[in-house]
Amino acid sequence: MNLEIRIGELTRDLALLAMFSGDPAPAVTRVVFSEQDLQARKFVKDRCLRAGLTVREDAVGNTFARWTGAEPDLPAVATGSHIDAIPNAGAYDGTVGVLGGLEAIRALQRSGFRPRRSVELIVFSAEEPTRFGIGCFGSRMLAGLLDAPLDGSTLRDKDGKTLEEWRAEAGFHGATASVPLPPGHYHAFVELHIEQGPLLEARGIPLGVVTAIAAPASLRMWIEGEGGHAGALLMPDRHDAFCAAAEIVLVVESAARSTGAVDTVGTVGVCDVFPGAVNSVPSRVRLEVDVRDTDLARRDGVLASIERECGEVSARRGVTVRTEIVNRDRPAACDSGVVEALARAAAAHGLAYRKMVSRAYHDTLFMSQIAPAAMLFIPCRGGISHRPDEFAAPEAIAAGALVLAEALGELAS
Ligand code: GLV
Ligand code: MN
Ligand code: MN
Repeated sequence: MNLEIRIGELTRDLALLAMFSGDPAPAVTRVVFSEQDLQARKFVKDRCLRAGLTVREDAVGNTFARWTGAEPDLPAVATGSHIDAIPNAGAYDGTVGVLGGLEAIRALQRSGFRPRRSVELIVFSAEEPTRFGIGCFGSRMLAGLLDAPLDGSTLRDKDGKTLEEWRAEAGFHGATASVPLPPGHYHAFVELHIEQGPLLEARGIPLGVVTAIAAPASLRMWIEGEGGHAGALLMPDRHDAFCAAAEIVLVVESAARSTGAVDTVGTVGVCDVFPGAVNSVPSRVRLEVDVRDTDLARRDGVLASIERECGEVSARRGVTVRTEIVNRDRPAACDSGVVEALARAAAAHGLAYRKMVSRAYHDTLFMSQIAPAAMLFIPCRGGISHRPDEFAAPEAIAAGALVLAEALGELAS
């Protein structure tokens, strides 16, 4: 296909989108349903409307922008990603798949191509777990895989405000039970994303075609000990919740390391200490733990050994440890038909690619449950992501959008 990616326009829009941030540039913080998220949604919707797409939003803010095909009753071909960003993140995670996906659609439109199937851009709500503690909330709901009841009253932020309250304030109404889409709703789904790892850049390969996505699990832990006066409570009498938590953080690290597999990772990224005063012995700590692996059994083995070791810390230190499993997802296998469509699209433009596994999770983890799905990776500088210095070169983004456009064109024909 004769496709032209207008990279100047695309990088300018990425820079404009990055300005909707709760932290000063170059940091991007855009938590779902925050003021910045709502402004960013408006910006993207406006770009979609300018491209002549028909925009629909569901009850939790997943946004669908459709280019209607010649046979509109056929299942559509979809692409997309997310625009929310964790605190102190960068400008490319998710956004490249949204604005790059839109540019791929515009490139197809400009080429004179007329799709048989509709082509849809999806902006998923809350890929990041920052607000509600669960990753890929929007795509998880689309796929009908949110374990909590779908009324939204059980999903809360850390201050106790419910999803129901948040979405109503953000202007998203309607029954959440209407969000899930049935298998077969889409003919195919492709997500363009920065690699968030170093392999493509290190090997000088412009594209990665993702064949599988690692299995993530996350836990919340409450460690309860006994507080008291930091001067008066003597060391032999202490049941310091934070000291126990510190051991548990190291338990997570050693459990992940103990598999010896490069694909096993364990992280404690959140630690809230109560009451949080320098002269008070911590009585309560909340940890949030993230464990992932490409191998489900190995990942579950790490979870089991964390649980065992926590029992030992709890008994020895006289504290209680309560664990809630927030999610324990299975790895996703990408669809071989969509993988091959991406491989053909890369080859059609003379671009090398490597088949690879995604160690980060993505909305594709859940879209793959209801549609044949795969992902296209582009290199990012130093493999860095979830940091303000995250960067993808314009040429890398352009190559990704070009190959995405080619693949969408083939899949929609
Ligand atoms: C997605 O942002 C992830 O944490 O993998
Ligand atoms: Mn992310
Ligand atoms: Mn992402």
